[in-house]
Amino acid sequence: MKNLVVLTGAGMSAESGISTFRDAGGLWDQYPVEQVATPEGYAANPKLVINFYNERRKQLLEVKPNRGHELLAELEKYFHVTVITQNVDNLHERAGSTEVIHLHGELTKVTSSFQPNNPRFIKELKPEEYEVRMGDKAPDGSQFRPFIVWFGEAVPMIETAIDYVDKADIFVIIGTSLNVYPAAGLLNYVHSGVPVYLIDPKEVRIASGRAVHVIQKGASEGMEELKKMLLEIRD
Ligand code: OAD
Repeated sequence: MKNLVVLTGAGMSAESGISTFRDAGGLWDQYPVEQVATPEGYAANPKLVINFYNERRKQLLEVKPNRGHELLAELEKYFHVTVITQNVDNLHERAGSTEVIHLHGELTKVTSSFQPNNPRFIKELKPEEYEVRMGDKAPDGSQFRPFIVWFGEAVPMIETAIDYVDKADIFVIIGTSLNVYPAAGLLNYVHSGVPVYLIDPKEVRIASGRAVHVIQKGASEGMEELKKMLLEIRD
């Protein structure tokens, strides 16, 4: 089976009812990014940041995967699919995708404020634990913080992601403005000759000059179209 590597962003989950970041009325219009998505913001007002992610977690219980997530999961019948997502929701997993790399962390997990990337301190929350409180502590005595990669922090999963992109036979980009690095730079690791598809209702500026098959549609409709195209080149 061919290796199909898919990079997804907030637009993948838009049709499930989760706001994107940079579209008009997106999350970064409603909440200043430096307050809720930087280590400095967290140091200045941990309670505000913890509450912001509590709200995001609560929303997870209200949304469900859309047809786009489901179609992507169904492609596992025909391809070895690796999803590299910038999303912190769990909708790919809930749709049935079995290989999901989260570049920017996961809402369903918390970790130590001192050593956020130490696997010993990363804890998966049960839905009844989604409301994290000030005073909830990691085993090292620090406040439990969201397991989210904030701006200015290292992206530990990028190396794993690059390894998969390097082996991709087909590369797909869905619902990301490609504004945030290092995720946006993954395209540079796709070998020449590997077909690249992009699904987004808006025009996305691609820094490298390589040819991209653009499907200018939303994730669900775009995935229907992509599935037909991919089945023609499956072997
Ligand atoms: P953006 O909000 O920057 O981009 C969302 C993209 O989704 C845009 O290109 C939209 O046109 C597109 N879009 C909107 N509706 C769509 C639909 N129905 N179907 C498909 N695409 C649609 O979000 P990201 O590129 O994911 O990081 O942002 C990257 C990172 O920046 C996020 O992971 C987050 C943010 O700050 C952190 O929080 C660390």
